[in-house]
Amino acid sequence: MQDKLNLMIPGPTPVPENVLSSMSKHPIGHRSGDFQKIVQKTTEQLKWLHQTTADVLTITGSGTAAMEAGIINTLSKGDQVICGDNGKFGERWVKVARAYGLDVKVVKADWGTPLDPNQFKKILQEDTNQKIKAVILTHSETSTGVINDLEKISSYIRNHKKALSIVDCVTSIGACNVPTDEWGLDIVASGSQKGYMIPPGLSFIAISQKAWKASENSDLPKFYLDLKSYKKSLANNSNPFTPAVNLFLALDEALKMMREEGLDNIFLRHKKHKLAISNAVKALNLELFADENYLSPSITAIKTGKINAEEFRKTVKNKFDILLAGGQDHLKGKIFRVGHLGYVNDRDIITVVSAISITLLDLGKITAKEAGEALVKASKYLK
Ligand SMILES: Cc1ncc(COP(=O)(O)O)c(C=O)c1O
Repeated sequence: MQDKLNLMIPGPTPVPENVLSSMSKHPIGHRSGDFQKIVQKTTEQLKWLHQTTADVLTITGSGTAAMEAGIINTLSKGDQVICGDNGKFGERWVKVARAYGLDVKVVKADWGTPLDPNQFKKILQEDTNQKIKAVILTHSETSTGVINDLEKISSYIRNHKKALSIVDCVTSIGACNVPTDEWGLDIVASGSQKGYMIPPGLSFIAISQKAWKASENSDLPKFYLDLKSYKKSLANNSNPFTPAVNLFLALDEALKMMREEGLDNIFLRHKKHKLAISNAVKALNLELFADENYLSPSITAIKTGKINAEEFRKTVKNKFDILLAGGQDHLKGKIFRVGHLGYVNDRDIITVVSAISITLLDLGKITAKEAGEALVKASKYLK
């Protein structure tokens, strides 16, 4: 029963029926007036979602396209940048920055722990010659389930005045508060298959005035991801290339749903689900992988101890048609991750907690009483 597969992974996330049906149409011309109206509407709603009056551009490509665009449009070869790295996606930033010949200083934290804002503060304060051109980091580190303290780190970047903030908000936009203007974020990158509740294929990038200013001096090579051409086309509610037209239809529908739910309600829903899962897991005698004070609203990583996490995931999928995510790199087989991002409701949470509990019960790792207690625990946070 393929259609019944419940995606509890951090992307692609489940897509609502009305969003799916909004896409199942013949494509319309991307230079047509009808399409221009969709671009205009979605752009306005994207600004609402990003809490910004700045430009938000849509690129046909995955989240990494927006990340790369953020770097190549604002920086130049040899520029000094600081990259935060406490997981797979922090590592990706380092790789992209190095691929373009930037001079990268890495601020590291162990996987499962948050980046230390004071390290950023110190480096930025010591940079009296203002050599640092950008601070680059991931907000919600999907590989570990850690949320970094972007509010604090961005305040230190603002104090520096020169450095841009370039942030991967791929699994935080649409899940928790990311007030782009209030925090003075210069580049915010995200992707469609996450909190946006639509299939993969679109990425989004918010760009501040300060970042546009920096783009005037940027000498890194670019063509498809040259944001100036997107900005120019957007003035005419258009795209420089052929965009994924039907995904724009989906985006329009999904943003309408988000607007109806409201930002505060969306954030609260994700917070409740995070608390329900994390507390249920503890009641099941499993350990959380991430520092409990920095749990991502979108994903919970769970250590499996002596149980092989890959076998565990396989059992849950075969028995219950629920797909959980595995650990990445050295964490493969050691953790599994529950995605609770986007189109997820309380029933999905109760169901996944039940599936995890029953699987542990079958393995003889917990008692029936403990399985029941975990459900009660989870449900407390869902009220
Ligand atoms: C935090 C984070 N950054 C970046 C990406 C990369 O996005 P994509 O695979 O859409 O290029 C992901 C995808 O899982 C992610 O979770």
